[in-house]
Amino acid sequence: MNPEHLAFCASPEWAQILQEEILPWALGDSDLGDDLLEVGAGPGMSTDVLRRLVPRLTAVELDDRLAAALAARLAGTKVDVVHADATALPLESGRFSAVTCFTMLHHVPSAESQDQLLGELRRVLRPGGLLVGSDSVATPELREFHEGDTYVPIDPDTMAARLRQVGFIDVEVQSSHPPPERFRFLAHRPAAAS
Ligand SMILES: C[S@@+](CC[C@H](N)C(=O)[O-])C[C@H]1O[C@@H](n2cnc3c(N)ncnc32)[C@H](O)[C@@H]1O
Repeated sequence: MNPEHLAFCASPEWAQILQEEILPWALGDSDLGDDLLEVGAGPGMSTDVLRRLVPRLTAVELDDRLAAALAARLAGTKVDVVHADATALPLESGRFSAVTCFTMLHHVPSAESQDQLLGELRRVLRPGGLLVGSDSVATPELREFHEGDTYVPIDPDTMAARLRQVGFIDVEVQSSHPPPERFRFLAHRPAAAS
């Protein structure tokens, strides 16, 4: 993330938006179960909301400095921080009751690697497990905000098909109104092992 973007993602303002708007809207009454994986934790503002909801949370972050800072901040809590690339997770198949990714997919550098990441999330879910997440819809202002960053926004109209393509079922994609527009997605790994 560029310095301005990073500062915003670590700010109390963003923490409040996550806690009061984005996560309640994206999660609804979803049951995250007993073993949650979050990918793209960044400075951990989303992690701080999620860790209140589950008994065990694994937070994956690609950036070495962000992962180290989060691991230090959350040492001794129920959160395990893993420094890894979520397109190739060093985590066992079929482990997690739910997986989440909030405002991170557009930081993954191509549609192919985004789909690889979604396939990895499916792999590490238990049969019947839940994927839930959200991302921002592309705007010129957001493109400018990401100057110097990876920015590959997802067209929400393609998201359901992409999730089904990597093996998810019961897929729901919904856009928020009014702007700033975001979309949320929920999907399940099929209950029968596949
Ligand atoms: C905009 S931040 C969002 C942070 C947090 N989820 C939130 O909602 O505040 C996106 C994060 O995803 C991380 N990220 C990007 N690609 C990743 C990948 N392949 N694996 C794991 N993390 C990744 C970035 O390093 C960045 O910290």
